[in-house]
This record gives sequence, C-alpha cells and structure tokens, in this order.
Amino acid sequence: MTISTHVYPEKSLEAVVITPKALSLCVTETLYSAAQETYQDIAAMTQTQSVDAVVASLLPAQKYLPHASSMNLGAINNRALVETLLAEIAGGPAGYQIRKMLGSNQVLCDFDQAWIRRQYAPHLYPTNHAPHGWHQDGALGFDFLATNNKQLDPEGLLPTVTCWIALTKCGVDAPGLEFVSQTVDALLLPEELTSHSINSRFSVDSFYTPQMDAGDALIFQGGTLHRTHVVKIMQTNRTSVELRFVAKHNIPQRLSGDYFIPMPNGNE
Ligand SMILES: [Fe+2]
Repeated sequence: MTISTHVYPEKSLEAVVITPKALSLCVTETLYSAAQETYQDIAAMTQTQSVDAVVASLLPAQKYLPHASSMNLGAINNRALVETLLAEIAGGPAGYQIRKMLGSNQVLCDFDQAWIRRQYAPHLYPTNHAPHGWHQDGALGFDFLATNNKQLDPEGLLPTVTCWIALTKCGVDAPGLEFVSQTVDALLLPEELTSHSINSRFSVDSFYTPQMDAGDALIFQGGTLHRTHVVKIMQTNRTSVELRFVAKHNIPQRLSGDYFIPMPNGNE
C-alpha cells in the first residue's frame, strides 16, 4: 500500500501544519468503518440501558466518553489496523512533521491517549454532547486544582505533538477544528481559555479553521491553542482520529505510566 507524499503542498502556519492525504483512502475508509461499527454498537446498547451502565460494561481496554462522543483507539479492537495506521503516518508528510517538531527520529505513539472523536452537526447533538472548548493538548494530566502557581510545575506543558486526522470531510458542512495560528509556549490556565479571553488576547486574523478532506492531517505542538469549530449551519457529522506522539528520549513524567507504540522510521 502506498501513499502520495508530495502531490499537494503542505500548508504551514506557525503553530499548526496541515498535511493533505496523510492517509490512503483505503486506511481512511477502513478506520472510519471500524469506528462507525463501534459507535453503532454503543448506540444500540444505550437503547436498553443508561449511558453510565454502557460505559461500565465495556471491555477493560475500551474507553468511551459520552460527553465528548469519543472512544479510545483500542475500542475498535484491531491492532493490525493500528499498526497500518502508524506505518502510513510514518511514511508520509505527517510522519516527517511529527519527527521535525519533536526533534527526533525515534518517536512513540501514546496508545493510551489515542482517540476516535465524533463531533455532531448542532441539530444532531446527542443528549449531553458538547464540543471541545479552547485547550492545549500539552496540558494533559496537569492538575490545575492542585497547582495554584503553574511556575511550580516545570513540566506544565508537555512536549507532545498531536496528529489529528479527519476520517470524513470537515470544516465547512461538518465540524472541524479552529486554531490560534501563533505559537504559544506557556501553559494557559482555565480562566485564560474562555472565548472572551482568547478573543481579547489574539487578533482576528490569528484564527484558522482548516477545510479538510478525509485522510488529511493536522500536526501541532502541545502548546497550540485549538477547539472544535462548529457553527449552526453545519448539517453533517465529523469523525476523526487523534494521536499523541513523544520523543523516545523525552517521555514526560505525567505520561510515564502509559502504553507506547513506536512509530516506524520513515524509510521502513
Ligand atoms: Fe485537543
């Protein structure tokens, strides 16, 4: 299986890089189908029991977050497909960007932080569903309540790189992502992440809402500010897969208990 790596130019902003056709159509559709099947299984279970009961009944390796309509990548229960996904990323422009941002050829995928996401058109929201507000993926595991002074935690913002891949067309008629295109190197506190605060801090032309085809990827550092981009006129749902990578030599302490899968080298 081959993927084209240089057919389209990469679009590079300061804080996020979009790599078109990061995945082949085959892997994109296979992963979407596997996700769709699992979402349908969960939806069928919620017909006869509460969402809490469904979550409690899943296999130990399966996680489902009802409010975010997200499931862990392990929930699709297909390790071969995960390996193929990582190999395609590794061999294409997304893999190049991930290594470049991490400053290492030896990178690991944090499988415990690998998620299938679904965002709904507003008129199709399930009960309790909510889009993601402004956040930084590098804040993962940071205890905002315990740490009043972020300067006390030298590991505040994790040295991670996120690879976010659209499994369906998104950004126009289906929810996508919105970014602040400027690099942010500091961990922002919850009160700095409100829409009002972000809009006050950054100029109007700082915001970027990419339009993506299935298989396109966004690559960004842990400090990059982003949220779900959803507006009322959208009519269709979006499914995506989100992977977090770290350099092998620089696994942050907050993630040290996670299960990591090496990303193959680009020439493998
Ligand atoms: Fe995120």
